[in-house]
Amino acid sequence: MNTEHSPRVLAPLPPGVAPTVWERARGSRIWTADGRELIDLTSGVLIANLGHSHPRVVDAIADQAGRLVATFVAHHPWRVRYATKLLAATNGAFEGVALASTGAEAVDAAVRVARAATRRRTVLSFVGGYHGKTTETVLLGGLPALRREAQRWAADSVLHMPFPREDPAASTAESAAEVERIVDLATELARATAPDDVAAVLVEPYLGAGGGVVPPSGFLDACRQLADRLGARLILDEVQSGFGRTGPLFAFQTMARPPDLLVLAKGIANGLPMAAVVGRASDLAATGTGTLWGSYSGNPLACAAAEATLEALQEEVDPARTATKGGELVATIRSWGTPGVREVRGVGYSIGIELHGVSGPERAAAVVAAAADAGAVLLPPAGVNGSVLRVAPPLTASEEELERGLTALRVALDGTTLSG
Ligand SMILES: Cc1ncc(COP(=O)(O)O)c(C=O)c1O
Repeated sequence: MNTEHSPRVLAPLPPGVAPTVWERARGSRIWTADGRELIDLTSGVLIANLGHSHPRVVDAIADQAGRLVATFVAHHPWRVRYATKLLAATNGAFEGVALASTGAEAVDAAVRVARAATRRRTVLSFVGGYHGKTTETVLLGGLPALRREAQRWAADSVLHMPFPREDPAASTAESAAEVERIVDLATELARATAPDDVAAVLVEPYLGAGGGVVPPSGFLDACRQLADRLGARLILDEVQSGFGRTGPLFAFQTMARPPDLLVLAKGIANGLPMAAVVGRASDLAATGTGTLWGSYSGNPLACAAAEATLEALQEEVDPARTATKGGELVATIRSWGTPGVREVRGVGYSIGIELHGVSGPERAAAVVAAAADAGAVLLPPAGVNGSVLRVAPPLTASEEELERGLTALRVALDGTTLSG
């Protein structure tokens, strides 16, 4: 087996990848090529919410792999069955599902849907937001039927707003005032620069790759009002927050009213490439017949894995435990009082540890490497300048595994140089 970390045959990896070669993973444990057992504080990249190789998902994949793997658009029972169960899991807040393979593809599709449904162009999104890495692939392609629909949106058409941060020291009234300030600012900006042209407000429930930044409570409801005020669709990007990561199955379930379009991926199939856009039937028809289907959309293998994942999450994971335990993990890390740590924040099992100063990014990368030596795998540093450590264990991690993971994290934080 090739145990090189960054072989030249691959495109360059992001900086700060833990120097480990994974050979096998089960639950919250990873076994490396050099024979070590590490605790996974990443869930892959917030994918294996049930833990790696969950037996129900493995069985579903094995069973389906021997039966039927791919059909493109030809009918098969697993697609309709999964879409029906997914819609039921969203409390009947939506009518239809467009299946896709990656989060970026699904975000791209949701934006196309919003633009087509509103016949508007501008998307209002947030500084620090992350929605994927595709270029607008439809525009790059040469199929007139697809291009015609998307070409109208080719011009620069994104307005970025500041994303508000939860401030533990602020009163409820102060937090509400901050949310209102940003929503008013967004309204003014949109009315001044894109009058009657905002197709969508696109937002994550918390900034994931942007550094685990949690907004004040009430922010998503304010985004709902903002979208209504502008006559735009609200697209909630739950690629990262979905499937129990924040506690409830979906973060939108804490909102007074749901978004118009919900984007899902990552935890949806516990590791298989799968994604979905969920919304009103009329919206999902707005881009035209067939325009939301690709080679792998809703392929039987991914659907079987997604169905097993959904059922296991609903039957085996306690949302209240994720919320409470996540809060305890934040409190524990804060209680260490580690010098050089600017802020520890989180929601459910998505925790960000922001390091101070100019040496923050360098130290964050050193912590990732040191944590691997001490027995835990962390994600490459996140945040706008790469100074945020992310802790996102599987929702099924045992107390003992969490304790081992945090011990390794603490050793790594304590052992890295402090400056800046
Ligand atoms: C909030 C959010 N949206 C979209 C994406 C893109 O998903 P994918 O990597 O599956 O394309 C990510 C990936 O990290 C994400 O965190």
